[in-house]
Amino acid sequence: MFQIKKICCIGAGYVGGPTCSVIASKCPDIKVTVVDVNEARINAWNSDTLPIYEPGLKEIVLSCRGKNLFFSTDIDTAIKEADLVFISVNTPTKTYGMGKGRAADLKFIEACARRIVEVSEGYKIVTEKSTVPVRAAESIRRIFDANTKPKLNLQVLSNPEFLAEGTAVKDLQEPDRVLIGGDEGPEGQRAIAALREVYEHWVDKSRIITTNTWSSELSKLAANAFLAQRISSINSISALCEATGADVEEVAKAIGMDQRIGSKFLKASVGFGGSCFQKDVLNLVYLCEALNLTEVAKYWQQVIDMNEYQRRRFACRIIDCLFNTVSGKKIALLGFAFKKDTGDTRESSSIYISKYLMDEGAELHIYDPKVSKEQIMLDLSQPSITERPEKVSELVTVSSDPYEACTNAHALVICTEWDMFKKLDYLKIYQKMQKPAFIFDGRRVLDDLHMQLQNIGFQIETIGKKVTTRIPFTPFTPTTFLLKDPLLRKPKAQKKD
Ligand code: NAI
Repeated sequence: MFQIKKICCIGAGYVGGPTCSVIASKCPDIKVTVVDVNEARINAWNSDTLPIYEPGLKEIVLSCRGKNLFFSTDIDTAIKEADLVFISVNTPTKTYGMGKGRAADLKFIEACARRIVEVSEGYKIVTEKSTVPVRAAESIRRIFDANTKPKLNLQVLSNPEFLAEGTAVKDLQEPDRVLIGGDEGPEGQRAIAALREVYEHWVDKSRIITTNTWSSELSKLAANAFLAQRISSINSISALCEATGADVEEVAKAIGMDQRIGSKFLKASVGFGGSCFQKDVLNLVYLCEALNLTEVAKYWQQVIDMNEYQRRRFACRIIDCLFNTVSGKKIALLGFAFKKDTGDTRESSSIYISKYLMDEGAELHIYDPKVSKEQIMLDLSQPSITERPEKVSELVTVSSDPYEACTNAHALVICTEWDMFKKLDYLKIYQKMQKPAFIFDGRRVLDDLHMQLQNIGFQIETIGKKVTTRIPFTPFTPTTFLLKDPLLRKPKAQKKD
């Protein structure tokens, strides 16, 4: 059997970096080199401040870096040396030409394929790790075939990555499954066996499944489409809950206990974000349209439409509750990453909520524990978000302290489910806010504190729940509230002196 001793991974991003760090840590006998055209990113991987945040990642990198894990910009040498090349470059939605706004842009994949065939000699396994449309492997193979040279033998496999940001290390160490797709002929099977052996260093055989190449490529798109669909489904129910008095958390619990449905991924929110869900569903829609499967395309498009509706709906609710105007009002937005435990803001719902509020003239004070000021300003200044980037620096302040962000604010809007937001001193926050002081919980992180928060004096608006019994606004007095009293279930009667 062909044994893989050296791996090159092209693309040192959210997938390439963590995946190869875990492979290096689990396979000390394999040399793993992660390469990228982005020198700053490679320098960061070689420094104390890694370019991405993932719980547990730094420890792994530090334990392997310089031993069998390397980060480099010398792409050609790493490809030449490798027995296996992972292609982990970005496949963003096209922003130009045919398929603009929907199809995946494969120009980075193609650049890799051309580079690989140019510098390679002998036998090599080339593996798509990036998420690609079905039959992308075919395009890679055609580029190889058209540029082949004597003794060159490049085998193409599909090995999509299923990690989720925020839990990447755990997902890689204990994957639900590893999927490898390849040719059904003996050459394809030999390549599959070699890649399988790498994973068998730490993954149980039963969890490594092999399919033909097209099934593997489509499985990744389908998996993301199903996950996104679940979020849109529960979000659609959250709208119904707000209109009727049902509580989406209760509904989610009730339906999730049905084993056929299951309880995971049933959390109503301000909508899904991240670099993958929208891109991959749009890619699926585009594929269906191209194959004349109009009804299938429409079905999946609705998942995206519902997500956009949920973001708009939440922003409208904020404006509505703030007496139909947010112009000139300070609003504290807590959380900018698309989910907790990551610093990634790609397609984060916070960007869109911010956009809607900025369009109405709100002054935003944004706090996120892991996202830099530069990143927030960059995201909000994109042409798709604002036509006047100069307005962003006028309307947006990025705070490094959540209490500072809330000072003098009319409302506090939670957009990311960071655990720390459950532990803030809300009494202190309330005292410094404008009254009435509103909390808009777009992630249901404060559910357990509702009674306490209402007792402080907050008006709470939460996704998927109609707040029917609002406590009439009374200014805070220390006797009306004991934040830490677990027995406090009802507002205490005010003492008459
Ligand atoms: P990323 O944008 O973080 O990283 C991609 C890297 O590839 C960048 O650093 C870029 O400079 C580099 N690159 C692009 N072209 C290159 C070239 N020709 N030569 C060398 N380097 C090049 O992207 P991310 O998030 O790592 O995603 C990569 C792929 O994995 C995408 O297809 C994505 O859909 C998929 N994926 C992403 C997941 C995620 O959670 N981010 C999860 C599962 C799959």
